[in-house]
Amino acid sequence: MNIQIINGPNLNLLGTREPNIYGNNTFENYYQELLKNYPNIYFSYFQSNIEGEIINKIHETGSKFNGLIINPGAYSHYSIGIADAIKAINIPTIEVHISNVYQREPFRQNFSTASSCVGVITGLGLKGYELAVLYLLESINNS
Ligand code: DQA
Repeated sequence: MNIQIINGPNLNLLGTREPNIYGNNTFENYYQELLKNYPNIYFSYFQSNIEGEIINKIHETGSKFNGLIINPGAYSHYSIGIADAIKAINIPTIEVHISNVYQREPFRQNFSTASSCVGVITGLGLKGYELAVLYLLESINNS
């Protein structure tokens, strides 16, 4: 079982970026915990601030991984390119948002990418990535 995690723009700044919204932990710290807690899963992590790089990584993921967890950051709200890339691959994809986007500005409540995904987890902090892992584990093992 192997799972790709992709984070979009500004998520490299977790830990210092608006900690009142996104918390104090860096993604790298969180990722190390995930690796420790799920030793039987092969994880790969990719972060980019560039839309085309994210699209290229999604294409690559489609042929190499059993599942994808993606937080497209602000691109979630307007990237048709990322939405199309997720639709183009044939593996289950879960969209994660750290903050509860429904408690935030109205423009964050428009989603471009979410409808390409199996489901969306929003507002549960970094824990959302682990919950997505648990979903993928169950659905891939039962398929
Ligand atoms: C985010 C929510 C987006 O609206 C925002 O642009 C982000 C992070 C989240 O994880 O809560 O960059 O995707």
